[in-house]
Amino acid sequence: MGAPAPKDAASQLRFVTCGSVDDGKSTLIGRMLYDAKLLMEDQVEALVRDSRMHGTAGEDIDFALLVDGLEAEREQGITIDVAYRYFATARRRFIVADTPGHVQYTRNMVTGASTADAAVLMVDARKGLLEQTRRHAHIVSLLGIRHVVVAINKMDLVDFAQTRFDAIVSDFNEAAAGFGFASVQAIPVSARFGDNVTEASARTPWYGGPTLIGYLEVLDTDTAGADGPLRFPVQWVNRPNADFRGYAGTLAGGSLRAGDEVVVAASGKRANVARIVTMDGDLEAAVCGDAVTLVLDREIDISRGDMLSAAGHRPVVADQFAAHLVWMGEDDLLPSRSYLLKTGRRTLAATITDIKHRIDVNTRQKLAAKSLALNELAVCNVSTAEPIAFDPYDENRQTGSFILIDRFTNATVAAGMIDFPLRRASNIHWQALSIDAGKRAEQKRQTPVVIWFTGLSGAGKSTIADIVEKRLFALGAHTYTLDGDNVRHGLNRDLGFTDADRVENIRRVAEVAKLMADAGLIVMVSFISPFRSERRMAREMLPDGAFIEVHVATPLEVAEARDPKGLYRKARAGELANFTGIDSPYEPPENPELVLDTVAHDPQALAGQIVAYLRQRGVLEG
Ligand code: ADX
Repeated sequence: MGAPAPKDAASQLRFVTCGSVDDGKSTLIGRMLYDAKLLMEDQVEALVRDSRMHGTAGEDIDFALLVDGLEAEREQGITIDVAYRYFATARRRFIVADTPGHVQYTRNMVTGASTADAAVLMVDARKGLLEQTRRHAHIVSLLGIRHVVVAINKMDLVDFAQTRFDAIVSDFNEAAAGFGFASVQAIPVSARFGDNVTEASARTPWYGGPTLIGYLEVLDTDTAGADGPLRFPVQWVNRPNADFRGYAGTLAGGSLRAGDEVVVAASGKRANVARIVTMDGDLEAAVCGDAVTLVLDREIDISRGDMLSAAGHRPVVADQFAAHLVWMGEDDLLPSRSYLLKTGRRTLAATITDIKHRIDVNTRQKLAAKSLALNELAVCNVSTAEPIAFDPYDENRQTGSFILIDRFTNATVAAGMIDFPLRRASNIHWQALSIDAGKRAEQKRQTPVVIWFTGLSGAGKSTIADIVEKRLFALGAHTYTLDGDNVRHGLNRDLGFTDADRVENIRRVAEVAKLMADAGLIVMVSFISPFRSERRMAREMLPDGAFIEVHVATPLEVAEARDPKGLYRKARAGELANFTGIDSPYEPPENPELVLDTVAHDPQALAGQIVAYLRQRGVLEG
């Protein structure tokens, strides 16, 4: 998200088209491009020819073929989800973000809408408002787009009936009440025949409003961001030689003149701008959207990801905040899971600590939720690994927005709009202690490690962990075993077996294991721990090399045949839901330190393998 807003906003309008499949979005965009005479002659010829052959519009030109053709081209470059099309009329230049309309493409819509000044919401006159239209309106409002055009399309198929138009307009106004749109303009159109797109239609004599292009040409947009305080996320530090140190980036808010005082948001360090450097020479001033390199009058500590800001208007710096979230992941959002959060130029670990409520896009009701599925909207609390500088989204759309990225697939799984910081933790500081992990370990003459056993229920994790602990204990090691069944009797008594609860189960046990390793102990952790994400989180919480992942790789058939607690039988009989391997997933480790084959070897031999491994790693002295 967050391409810079155009400087000369008056002569240029960025808008996004939102619609569902088949409601004529492609046709409308094709029509606008065609009417703007943007198409090359040979493209028009090809279009006429193709329309006759493949089109669905009889002898007429099928404009959708034009856009769909471009779309097919685009699909080959699979990374581009949003196509930006440029066209111009005598009065204005337009950039339209064309986003595929399928339900699963909310992500593209969010991307396209994040920089738009206006949104054109397409409604099929025959179908009226769909759930998707409501969702799009909601997202458009969340993204801070204040101008909405409701293009009620296919009016030719409802005989240009005013009653149909009025009914949809009234539905929309009801649905959009409270969204804070500055303007809502409904226009009856037929993209196919061009009614009210560029030319006023003779077939809607009852409609006295503007045409779509006519309206977009004069729409007054507010250039939010440009008027606000300076925001300059540092993209990289440019240091070609010892004499030059510049901070490169793009202004995400406000403006700047040479000589201005700036402050590093997080540290509060101040300096004055000595030069504003560009490829074309130095500037006296820069505004929101300009890409520049700043040279300061003194050396202060600034690195990539820091934010320079107006001295009198620093952004918020916090590691917890409330935000609206649009979930776009194929897998559900799970609170406590660690995702990557990207805002401006910073990427860091973050978790959703709490889903306050989900929002039903149809009724606008607040619903309780423990997880979020594809396309769902919610208000959440977010916690980042370190403090970040930001503004509330309604003050700055760039510095107030973020995306979440899945750590394994690298897919963008959410778009977020920050509401306000949460100050809960600001009175809690890390207390430095005199006796540290190293001293405690030294006293015990051992290297603290966490031996993390993962595998299906009945795989043999606890049995093997128990033997390992006995052997280590006999060797004089200081040990502890955290076992799923046991911890679930106490600390995690409140948790069940949904995905969300398992994530929290593992998060807590990883924290406890970390404390125990800090205390100098060798810790056995024996939990199914079915998800890669949480095992990786546990690994990252510990010092390098202190996490030893042991996959107790018993196949499902074998664990089920053993069925030591009779749970597989119950699960198969439908008496036990969410059972791992049956109706709840298990993600095997990809690079565990050890894989144990419980079919070929007995538990004693496998425990021996682990002890040998620990010796080899130098964990045990002597
Ligand atoms: S984890 O998935 O969250 O890591 P954990 O290891 O704590 O699971 O607990 C697993 C133990 O709980 C199993 O060994 C089994 O005895 C018991 N159990 C009860 N219900 C389930 C279930 N639905 N799925 C898996 N284990 C279950």
